[in-house]
Amino acid sequence: MITQDKVLEVLKTVIYPNFEKDIVSFGFVKNITLHEDKLGLLLDIPSSSDEVAQTLNNEVKSKLEALGIKNIHIDIKTPPKATPKTPSTKNLAPQIKHFVMVSSGKGGVGKSTTSANLAIALAQQGKKVGLLDADVYGPNIPRMLGLNTSKPQVDSSGKKLIPLKAFGVEMMSMGVLYEEGQSLIWRGPMLMRAIEQMLTDVIWSDLDILVIDMPPGTGDAQLSMAQSVPVSAGITVTTPQQVSLDDSARSLDMFVKLHIPIAGIVENMSGFICPDCGKEYDIFGKGTSQVLADSYSTNIIAQIPLEPKVRESGDSGKPIVFFEPNSLSSKAYVKASISIIEFLNKVERESLADNKNIQPTKDNSHLH
Ligand SMILES: Nc1ncnc2c1ncn2[C@@H]1O[C@H](COP(=O)(O)OP(=O)(O)OP(=O)(O)O)[C@@H](O)[C@H]1O
Ligand SMILES: [Mg+2]
Repeated sequence: MITQDKVLEVLKTVIYPNFEKDIVSFGFVKNITLHEDKLGLLLDIPSSSDEVAQTLNNEVKSKLEALGIKNIHIDIKTPPKATPKTPSTKNLAPQIKHFVMVSSGKGGVGKSTTSANLAIALAQQGKKVGLLDADVYGPNIPRMLGLNTSKPQVDSSGKKLIPLKAFGVEMMSMGVLYEEGQSLIWRGPMLMRAIEQMLTDVIWSDLDILVIDMPPGTGDAQLSMAQSVPVSAGITVTTPQQVSLDDSARSLDMFVKLHIPIAGIVENMSGFICPDCGKEYDIFGKGTSQVLADSYSTNIIAQIPLEPKVRESGDSGKPIVFFEPNSLSSKAYVKASISIIEFLNKVERESLADNKNIQPTKDNSHLH
């Protein structure tokens, strides 16, 4: 006999396209009605892409048919279609002008190193910059900015946190709220709440740019962030090996699906600079991410060599872009920061032009 539990079990094997979790874990299955051999299903998904809805419909249908159910009616509720340039109306930190999300498909490719150095480089360009460490599982930003033993102050209301500051950049991270070494386990709703709190319960200044260092992959954290603030630029960090590039395509796909404009790719560990002779060697390859950039109509905004100094500067809390401005890596970070500023200016101009023509979209807070 077919039961609701059996149906649910099958639905748990359906992965939400371009993400890592299934539609049940994401909470997209809203209703199941089962009468003899008739099954009705209501899915509520956060994407307005017809392709996503179609893929889901096909997969759910064929998997349920394999259970022996003949009469299946699937209803997929989607948010109203928005053009890619239309910003989300939900903004938990409206005093901040631009949110820049730094993501990657794979772990350990250099997101945090990139986020920290880019944030400082952007501040050096005269922008008011914040750096949000959204990697609540493994927060590394405090150490990279030399703030790992600092604790943030609470404001006079006793309810909000004052961000820490280093190298001209405001910073908040779970890493400065918990003792070092304490392990943190976050489940879906708690993770969402933690991300929301880092936006609403921290007194960020009126920033030009908040750089957001994400955990690796395309999961809850990315979805929560995109639903909490209008992200105006996405940056994917990759290393040049093919296996890393494959994962990076997923990260770029995620930006597309979440309507996040892609500012570019940072190719990290691109060539190795020998500290003794200064000669450059290709270890993981170099320039291989160009194909990826082309297929997403974007650019490589920086090629950062594998340089021992980059690692040492991260470990010692002395960011290379600040302490060794003449190194090849620092120059590349500065160049990338300038292209990010140009990209954000473009996004701003386009959104101003769009706002003249388009009515604001409905609040999508129902997605929570
Ligand atoms: N270009 C580079 N040259 C040398 N070492 C580097 C370079 N980029 C990053 N590293 C080092 O590689 C390690 C991983 O980098 P990082 O922590 O920035 O990666 P991540 O993508 O943020 O990792 P995670 O997915 O765990 O958050 C760090 O020790 C960092 O110092
Ligand atoms: Mg990291």
